[in-house]
Amino acid sequence: MNKRADFGSDLEQAAFWMPFTANRQFKKAPRLLARAEGMYYWTPEGREVLDGTAGLWCVNAGHCRPKIVEAVKRQVATMDFAPTFQMGHPIAFEFAERLARIAPEGFSRVFFTNSGSESVDTALKIALAYHRARGEGQRFRLIGRERGYHGVNFGGMAVGGLQANRKTFGPGVAGVDHIRHTHDLGRNAFSRGQPEKGLEFAEELERLCALHDPSTIAAVIVEPLAGSAGVLVPPKGYLERLREICTRHGILLIFDEVITGFGRLGHPFASQRFGVVPDLFTTAKGLTNGTVPMGAVFLKDSLYQAFMQGPESSSSGIELFHGYTYSGHPVACAAGIGTLETYEDESLLTRAQSLEKHWEDAAHSLKGTRHVIDIRNCGLVAAIELEPRPGAPGRRAYEAFVKAFETGVLIRVTADIIALSPPLIIEKPQIDRLYQTLREVLPQVA
Ligand SMILES: Cc1ncc(COP(=O)(O)O)c(C=O)c1O
Repeated sequence: MNKRADFGSDLEQAAFWMPFTANRQFKKAPRLLARAEGMYYWTPEGREVLDGTAGLWCVNAGHCRPKIVEAVKRQVATMDFAPTFQMGHPIAFEFAERLARIAPEGFSRVFFTNSGSESVDTALKIALAYHRARGEGQRFRLIGRERGYHGVNFGGMAVGGLQANRKTFGPGVAGVDHIRHTHDLGRNAFSRGQPEKGLEFAEELERLCALHDPSTIAAVIVEPLAGSAGVLVPPKGYLERLREICTRHGILLIFDEVITGFGRLGHPFASQRFGVVPDLFTTAKGLTNGTVPMGAVFLKDSLYQAFMQGPESSSSGIELFHGYTYSGHPVACAAGIGTLETYEDESLLTRAQSLEKHWEDAAHSLKGTRHVIDIRNCGLVAAIELEPRPGAPGRRAYEAFVKAFETGVLIRVTADIIALSPPLIIEKPQIDRLYQTLREVLPQVA
């Protein structure tokens, strides 16, 4: 298991076109992982790597947890696949039921997908269809936010606010607009927890309502804490204000909880941490601890009921013309149930609360380290923002990422921002090691 992987040929000629990867650079100098357990990965040569990113924000309970492994083994040997179109299997019903139990009050319905991207596109489609079902089909606009990341499918890409997406693929979907992001280094640098300044950024939504006529807007989608575009913690009062504006104009508020869901911020979901309730929210990643791909959209019972009002006799009686071959896949559901049991056994969905102060102090101890221009944190998430190297944005953080990996710590970078989001089982000495590694690595980067 620990021996070097044999690719049979030069890796530079490998068939695998790697996602979100500089393929030519990577294939010249690969970083490979071959095994994982608990807080660690091991390279094919057997070198230990501390996981500072829970894989890709998904392995919240740590790697290869026995209950999840056993549940998957059992299910794959019992029933590998069964359809959920006009058919059902008990484990999908059971998993949805258990999820509804940990969701905020009133979120009693769950629609299964296979990824965060699919959850986002599903939520957007549910929002559009909901308004139509209620005779408000004129609500076709979708509002996202600059620097938002909502996955790679057309809907999520369009409401997302990443420049690179627009540059590469165009605007994607018509009828989409964006409010501005909340990043404000000038006023909020080195904030601990929610920044004090920036509530007024929510007023941007009122501006778009005035511009477009609010009765044409179906939904607003935001990450309660923006992750992939650099960890942007919502300013105090900001989410509350978005909620008020949406409620006033009959606009659905969607929280994209693909990374904030399942304990990342010390509560099962970010809406519980911030005390702001959306109308729908999307999840994936921690839903199955990353073991089997799966996503889920949670919605309020009132939304579900709006779809259940039409005549059952019309054509097939299908209330929402949407679904994936693998919606509610039995093996994914088994992984999900094993995951929920592991979260429950070890109180992982709230564990971040007890670690947050230590985590915050450790992160902010990097203030004054070479290149660092901001540190921000919330729950078990932190970002260390670096001053970009003149003429080479993103290079500095990328070099820190490579050096940290060589030193035995996995971090994640986006542009010149280092993002940290370890498994929720992390212990204090491992937190200290994570930040000590950065303290040593950053001064070595030019
Ligand atoms: C907030 C958010 N939404 C959606 C996605 C897309 O999820 P996936 O990569 O599973 O499609 C991500 C992925 O990082 C995310 O962070």
